[in-house]
Amino acid sequence: MVQKRAYISETSSYLPDTVMTNSQLEKVVETTDEWIVSRTGIKERRIAHKEEATSDLGVKAAHKLLEKAQLDISQVDLIIVATLSPDYIFPSTACIIQKKLKAKCPAFDVVAACSGMMFALATAKGYITSGLYKNIMVIAAEKVSSILDYTDRSTCVLFGDGACAALVTDKPLSDHAVWMDEIVLGSDGEMHQALEVPSGGSVEPLSKEALEEKRHCLRMDGRVVFRHAVKRMISSISECLKKGNIEIDEIDYFIPHQANNRIIEAILKRFMIDPQKVHRNVEYIGNVCAASVGICLDEYLEHRSKSDQNILMAAFGAGFTWGTMILKGEGR
Ligand code: ACO
Repeated sequence: MVQKRAYISETSSYLPDTVMTNSQLEKVVETTDEWIVSRTGIKERRIAHKEEATSDLGVKAAHKLLEKAQLDISQVDLIIVATLSPDYIFPSTACIIQKKLKAKCPAFDVVAACSGMMFALATAKGYITSGLYKNIMVIAAEKVSSILDYTDRSTCVLFGDGACAALVTDKPLSDHAVWMDEIVLGSDGEMHQALEVPSGGSVEPLSKEALEEKRHCLRMDGRVVFRHAVKRMISSISECLKKGNIEIDEIDYFIPHQANNRIIEAILKRFMIDPQKVHRNVEYIGNVCAASVGICLDEYLEHRSKSDQNILMAAFGAGFTWGTMILKGEGR
């Protein structure tokens, strides 16, 4: 039996207007442009307005998506949202976005930190190939700035806000549609404390002390995360290539999670990938967590050359979680 395909027919992204440069951060926390650029490659990031919630960023990406795809919201069967900076603990950000879009379809969140878009796309693929839905809107939106401690220089310099959206369909609805081929997802909860928001959940409900110690903000053991990010992304890329029976040389374009340039460099070195074939935007938008790979995909698909048939996307995030996916152009 021929397996049904799930297409990414259209993509969009949204970045807030406000740019925060490294030199602006130098005035907020003890850091330097030189340190940030040499350790991460980041020069600036976008910061959402105070009154803008994560759902608002997602809604902006969703409106762009509907316009590009010339689709009415009533034609969307399901909304899946990936975020690590939700509007509320509950209800889901997906429900808030559904309300704001005046949609009537079901909506739910996926929580897989910076790998969220990969888990959400894989979920959408499952629904499409099972025949349950035809048009799924996958959104990743982050107002990471709302959970950052701007007195902690080891984290606040790394992240930025933004959103992306993808229309996953049972048929290609545009001439730049790509379909999702092999997907490898993974999780390892052993190291969950290496990257977390310690307070505000059932383990440690929010308290005056927690607020004073900024335990409601993101905390990270950068070295541990770095080591695991490289290791896990390399192994999941290898596994995905093997599953897809495809050689690294046959991949025309790479979209790695944009956490920092040194992680990307380590992966390129391991697979001897030509840097010209790799998407990068970390310099200008920092780490936009779940939205990172989706923003890259949107930037790339705008200009994709038709000869680029095999695209590899890989992400890593808190949990730990990771995912790699091979996307193929029509005709493969
Ligand atoms: N400015 C200046 N100095 C700083 C800063 C800063 N912003 N941050 C840390 N330092 C100092 C530290 O205090 C330390 O000083 P010390 O030696 O006097 O103690 C020194 O710089 C070195 O600190 P390290 O943590 O060892 O620096 P490292 O080279 O490991 O780089 C970094 C830190 C950039 C965070 C790195 O570990 C990293 O990239 N980790 C991965 C982080 C990441 O990508 N997370 C996200 C992935 S998952 C996801 O996307 C959710």
